Amino acid sequence: MHSVKNLLVTGGCGFIGSNFVRYLLEESEFSGRIINIDKLTYAGNPENLSDIEETLPARYKFIQGDICDQDLLNHIFDAYKIDAICHFAAESHVDRSIVEPDAFIRTNIIGTFALLETAKANLARIHLFHHISTDEVFGSLPEEGFFTEETSYKPNSPYSASKASSDHLVRAYHKTYGLPITVSNCSNNYGPYQFPEKLIPLMILNAMEGKPLPVYGDGKNVRDWLYVRDHCAAIWTIMERGRRGETYNIGGKTEMENIEIVKMICDVLDNSTKRLENQSRQELITFVKDRPGHDRRYAIDFSKLTKELGWSPSESLETGLSKTIKWYIDNEEWVRHIKTGEYLSWIRQHYGSG
Ligand code: NAD
Ligand code: TYD
Repeated sequence: MHSVKNLLVTGGCGFIGSNFVRYLLEESEFSGRIINIDKLTYAGNPENLSDIEETLPARYKFIQGDICDQDLLNHIFDAYKIDAICHFAAESHVDRSIVEPDAFIRTNIIGTFALLETAKANLARIHLFHHISTDEVFGSLPEEGFFTEETSYKPNSPYSASKASSDHLVRAYHKTYGLPITVSNCSNNYGPYQFPEKLIPLMILNAMEGKPLPVYGDGKNVRDWLYVRDHCAAIWTIMERGRRGETYNIGGKTEMENIEIVKMICDVLDNSTKRLENQSRQELITFVKDRPGHDRRYAIDFSKLTKELGWSPSESLETGLSKTIKWYIDNEEWVRHIKTGEYLSWIRQHYGSG
């Protein structure tokens, strides 16, 4: 990857994509340029990278656009001589996919297809197409066992089914057309810049304000939490040294029931400067109706990535969670812009639409 000059990142204004752009430009040895295409849906916030856009204009270029737009993709690949792709862009929230699956089929499947077609048309120049996927494609685990790269696909939500479909397309373009690909399937991420619709940021922000903390079902669903910076380091390790055509699982080795995570967040905040008068935050926990088709447990075996490429996570849930909570406390303005929708007017002001 040292010879890559122009890396196309899709969905770089979202949670993981923006952390990855920051990681590459601030912490890795990558010396090329990043071109970020993002449609700026409700989840995309270019403010996440506005400092980078200002300080590193020669190394970072943002283009507002849709990955389903084949003409735009052709133009970008030509104009910027794209020689590698890291594909994050997706509709990413399970609850939304249950209510309105259409955008998930469009972006996650058709969008990935359009990107693959463009990469295929530029095959001679492409070093790598790295596809970001999820452990949710494997379905739900019982109390024992782990997902490995050999686990069969059994997606249960429209979100995971659309991601599974995109994984298959990426694999097929490698087998059929020789496109150099790698795929990573990771567990639930958390950390700075996550949109507060997902469990951890939603609970942090509600708990900070003393609002109810809605826990689905009995709260005993288990997720394996991965700190976003650890995830970014893993992606870059795979892009640099992973075997082409291979899939790698990425996990945090931090299985935890939802209710326990929520209690941890309450306790960290109760012990911070944000203590509530006369109330323990655990009293805010409210059990609500369960999500339909709610997967019970995810847990990742990432030993392939450790054995082959030497990666393992560096954050524990305790350290990662306290960094994350501190970030949300310290970034009041970012939170206010998200909550009031002000970031959408910021988008219109800077890019004309949103
Ligand atoms: P996110 O929702 O925060 O960001 C998605 C980004 O994609 C947004 O900036 C959005 O504007 C952009 N986007 C959506 N549709 C687009 C389109 N048609 N064209 C161009 N851009 C578009 O998501 P995230 O949490 O950062 O997830 C990134 C990737 O990682 C996704 O592929 C997701 O499936 C995968 N993943 C996420 C998690 C997690 O815990 N967040 C876990 C496993 C895998
Ligand atoms: P989420 O962050 O939506 O990620 P995913 O569904 O992709 O795993 O949810 C994580 C877990 O938290 C999942 O078991 C659903 C649960 N959950 C709640 O209990 N309450 C909430 O308000 C949310 C958003 C999620």
